[in-house]
Amino acid sequence: MNLPLLITTIAFLLLSSHASAKEDCYDCHGQQGGRTYVNKDALVQSVHGKIACDKCHLNIAPYPHGTVSKVNCGICHFLGRDGAPKEQAAEYKLSVHGLAAGKGTMAPTCQTCHGGHAIYRSADPRSSTSREKIPALCGRCHAAELGVYEKSIHGTLLLKNNVSSAPTCFDCHMEHRIPSASEAKWKLSLVSKCGTCHPEEMDTYHKTYHGKVTRLGYTTIAMCWDCHGSHDILPQNDPASTLSSKNLLSTCAKCHPGATESFTKFYAHAEETNRAKYPVLYYTFLFMTLLLIGTFAFFLTHTFLWAYRALKERIQKKGGM
Ligand code: HEC
Ligand code: HEC
Ligand code: HEC
Ligand code: HEC
Ligand code: HEC
Ligand code: HEC
Ligand code: HEC
Ligand code: HEC
Ligand code: HEC
Repeated sequence: MNLPLLITTIAFLLLSSHASAKEDCYDCHGQQGGRTYVNKDALVQSVHGKIACDKCHLNIAPYPHGTVSKVNCGICHFLGRDGAPKEQAAEYKLSVHGLAAGKGTMAPTCQTCHGGHAIYRSADPRSSTSREKIPALCGRCHAAELGVYEKSIHGTLLLKNNVSSAPTCFDCHMEHRIPSASEAKWKLSLVSKCGTCHPEEMDTYHKTYHGKVTRLGYTTIAMCWDCHGSHDILPQNDPASTLSSKNLLSTCAKCHPGATESFTKFYAHAEETNRAKYPVLYYTFLFMTLLLIGTFAFFLTHTFLWAYRALKERIQKKGGM
């Protein structure tokens, strides 16, 4: 037998045995309706379409399999094997979920959110982690937060009106590196997150007492959600808003126990140049500015005339001597 023929034969045998291993799995797992049915189309079209079964299902013995261990996504994603993206697994490990997962709680693993076989890229509408599907997914364990979010302006827009620019859970909490809701660093970065979608309100907030102190790194002072709510954000003209005329006083009083009706007139987003929105502030600003310019103009003129007069008198006195 010549060498090239030998190589071709061996290559053929290797390839066909590999292919038949995969077909073998489907022999038993391809039956629709079976408890262990594997949907071939979903798997082939998924991001892992080209990966062999036994790369994920490690140590799977021929049937009977014996104990089948759970798939560990980290064997590729934690190390970045074969070009698998690895940032997500590293971030997940540090998250509230990753830290809780090892302790026998009901914390989600990669599979809980992404599924096992039907994993698609985020842009694919079939993806289980798309923006619109995320609230229901998180809500499986955080039902109370979901219930409130659904009724907020953000939730209504995203889930009922299909406005994909409205924030979903991970815009505020992040996809993988979800920190504890009491983490100061996260809170400070969340202000800028709100600000990417509401830049004007963030700028004006930063001009107020609350905003300036937040900028210095303190989190005990009013941040966006202390006034607006976090999951229950509504427009101010909605009676249920934490800032409606009915609720405004109690919202400020959480931190300012002695607050009165007039205290709430403080401008949370003062913009002295916006006449339409803050007429009183605008005219006060205008009046104070004019008063300042007027006072300066008057006294400057006065001083000049005074100096001129004094000089003239002195010259006249000199001439008289
Ligand atoms: C001869 C039939 C047969 C073949 C071939 C077969 N399996 Fe199975 N497999 C089963 C049966 C039946 C079960 C149900 C659990 C049990 O009784 O062990 C199972 C269970 C499993 C499970 C665990 C499912 C669960 O949730 O309990 C995995 C994973 C699995 N098989 C993967 C594979 C892979 C990968 C291949 C190909 C390398 C394969 N199987 C080939 C019959 C087969
Ligand atoms: C990207 C990794 C990956 C590949 C490739 C893969 N699986 Fe799976 N498979 C999973 C995960 C994850 C689960 C969910 C259970 C778990 O977490 O262990 C699963 C579950 C299963 C189950 C249990 C039934 C179910 O749907 O829950 C069977 C049977 C199975 N796989 C067979 C196969 C077969 C046969 C192939 C190849 C044709 C294959 N798998 C390829 C990751 C993979
Ligand atoms: C055998 C190695 C391996 C295992 C195990 C594995 N993956 Fe992957 N995964 C890859 C590779 C390689 C890619 C890149 C595919 C590509 O870009 O074509 C990928 C891509 C992905 C993507 C898409 C990334 C993107 O940029 O769009 C997601 C999501 C994903 N994997 C999730 C998972 C989850 C969840 C599990 C566990 C159920 C898992 N993977 C298990 C190798 C693996
Ligand atoms: C709590 C739910 C959750 C868990 C747990 C989770 N992910 Fe994700 N993952 C997401 C969301 C949400 C996205 C973003 C999808 C988007 O932008 O639409 C994502 C995106 C990804 C991507 C990029 C995919 C793309 O197309 O952009 C990869 C890769 C990935 N995850 C891998 C993993 C791995 C590996 C694990 C386990 C270590 C894991 N994820 C755990 C929810 C989760
Ligand atoms: C607009 C930003 C935003 C969105 C969207 C959002 N959250 Fe939150 N979430 C927050 C803030 C801010 C806090 C902290 C509340 C505080 O400190 O008063 C929080 C706190 C939490 C907590 C901790 C418990 C608590 O109530 O303090 C959980 C759990 C939570 N969110 C889950 C979710 C889920 C699930 C979704 C999607 C249905 C979601 N969040 C959407 C901003 C958001
Ligand atoms: C399978 C159930 C499950 C799913 C799904 C889930 N979580 Fe969690 N989550 C938990 C558990 C359990 C904890 C508590 C961890 C602890 O107490 O240390 C937690 C904690 C949190 C916290 C911290 C709460 C605090 O008091 O500081 C936030 C924020 C959070 N999850 C957000 C999310 C978001 C956003 C999603 C969706 C992308 C999500 N969770 C999906 C189970 C889940
Ligand atoms: C991903 C973008 C995005 C993020 C992040 C976001 N929002 Fe929004 N928000 C929107 C959109 C879109 C609307 C509805 C359109 C509008 O009126 O501006 C909205 C509406 C609002 C409204 C009602 C506005 C009105 O005119 O009636 C308030 C108040 C609000 N958001 C506050 C917040 C706060 C506070 C945060 C951070 C905790 C936040 N938003 C984070 C996109 C976002
Ligand atoms: C001290 C409380 C307070 C803080 C802190 C605060 N706001 Fe406001 N916000 C208000 C009040 C009161 C209004 C309504 C009156 C106005 O527009 O000045 C408002 C109006 C808004 C509006 C217009 C919505 C509407 O209903 O008309 C948006 C959007 C908004 N704020 C976002 C933010 C963001 C983003 C932050 C953080 C960067 C923030 N706010 C911080 C109290 C606050
Ligand atoms: C999360 C707590 C919190 C909330 C809610 C809050 N503030 Fe404040 N605010 C503070 C703290 C702390 C200071 C620092 C000065 C102090 O201790 O009074 C401050 C300072 C101020 C100041 C300047 C200092 C002063 O006492 O004259 C004004 C004005 C003010 N807040 C108005 C408001 C108004 C109006 C609301 C409601 C729309 C509000 N705040 C809601 C925590 C809060």
